[in-house]
Amino acid sequence: MARTYKIQVLPGDGIGPEVIQEAVKVLEIVSGAIQRLDLAFHEFPCGGKYYLETGVEWPGEAEVFAQQEADAILLGAVGWEIAPGQPVRRKDGQLAGAEVVLGQRRDLELYANVRPVKLYPGVPTPLADKQPADIDFVIIRENTEGLYSGIGKRYGENEPGELAIDVRPISRMGAERVIRYAGRLAQKRGKGAPKDGKQRLTCVDKSNVLLGDQLFRQVFEESMHDFPEIEPDFAYVDAWVMWCVRQPEYYNVVVAPNLYGDIISDLGAAIQGGMGVAAGGNIGDNHAMFEPIHGSAPRHAGKRRANPTAAILAGKMLLEWLGERHNDHQAMNAATIIEEAVTTVLKEGKVRTYDLCKGSYSSQKPSTTKQMGTAIRKIIQKTLKERS
Ligand code: NAI
Ligand code: MG
Repeated sequence: MARTYKIQVLPGDGIGPEVIQEAVKVLEIVSGAIQRLDLAFHEFPCGGKYYLETGVEWPGEAEVFAQQEADAILLGAVGWEIAPGQPVRRKDGQLAGAEVVLGQRRDLELYANVRPVKLYPGVPTPLADKQPADIDFVIIRENTEGLYSGIGKRYGENEPGELAIDVRPISRMGAERVIRYAGRLAQKRGKGAPKDGKQRLTCVDKSNVLLGDQLFRQVFEESMHDFPEIEPDFAYVDAWVMWCVRQPEYYNVVVAPNLYGDIISDLGAAIQGGMGVAAGGNIGDNHAMFEPIHGSAPRHAGKRRANPTAAILAGKMLLEWLGERHNDHQAMNAATIIEEAVTTVLKEGKVRTYDLCKGSYSSQKPSTTKQMGTAIRKIIQKTLKERS
């Protein structure tokens, strides 16, 4: 008997619901067509708009469901604004909705933020002379500690001597679990770095200056003894961004503390073609949440033009994670079919949302969110039919 996976769906704000709808439709198709793969979707409201209406960021039962019921979570984006440039804030000044993302990362211990940086054929990259064959690596960002620990204080507000301090805890345990996650991923990625096929794992830090990074690097070096087939590699974060632009093909898996990981993964998104195609996973030992890495893009909300590719690829990562966790070949198989369909649609290039109409595609008429989702689903259906 196939087991039913409970998928918690959190569309959120702005373009979140628009792109998540397309992703869920894709997942419904593979779930319906592949025998022994059964996904059940449980949708809950959340975000800044919901906060405006209710005074809470998400219903209490959604939080309980995430902790106790969900096999995996698919999130759109959170963050709404009352007027352009005026975000909805909680009483404590924090962005309303942010707790859904940050709280889950913390409470479910989703310590590895996994960010594949892959340039698909047909997607324009701002890097001159780089091809899809050159850009294919994964950034692993530590997701629970570091500068985003939330520990800090402002002293003497609005006084001339005002001072703000953010505390940056980096623990041996926190560093070790994410570094080992990156090590296991490097082991699994048989093809290695595009440049030379090496199973390279790069530790990105600032250990020439900061104590937390010295600990991070030390734990990296110690952990690598258990991964003899992996080539350990080191870069200071400032140098890494330069090398990433010059020769992204050198990288295979990259691991970094929280803040650096946040910054370098946006560079990654840019070189892989932008927010419309960049997906990520927040992964722990017992829970995982997948999302397009973009936000709610209020400017584009309701205009039916957001690119659903990132959300669809987030769904693909969700299936991959379920597949590995439960040794479920059907889930893995479905993930492959989805990625192949995305690749085909992007490569053919006839259907492309506005964000991909750049460079040599700038004269093309942009497709809608729905058209893009439909094109991807059509290829999936064709593949499923051929294989049945
Ligand atoms: P954003 O990612 O929402 O949008 C920035 C720009 O990227 C957009 O103006 C658009 O040009 C492009 N873009 C984003 N997604 C796209 C898509 N699917 N297709 C085509 N183009 C796309 O970032 P922004 O404007 O800084 O933040 C807007 C709101 O989202 C804020 O409230 C912010 O706090 C929130 N946010 C939420 C995140 C989350 O839920 N994980 C992550 C980042 C921001
Ligand atoms: Mg970011």
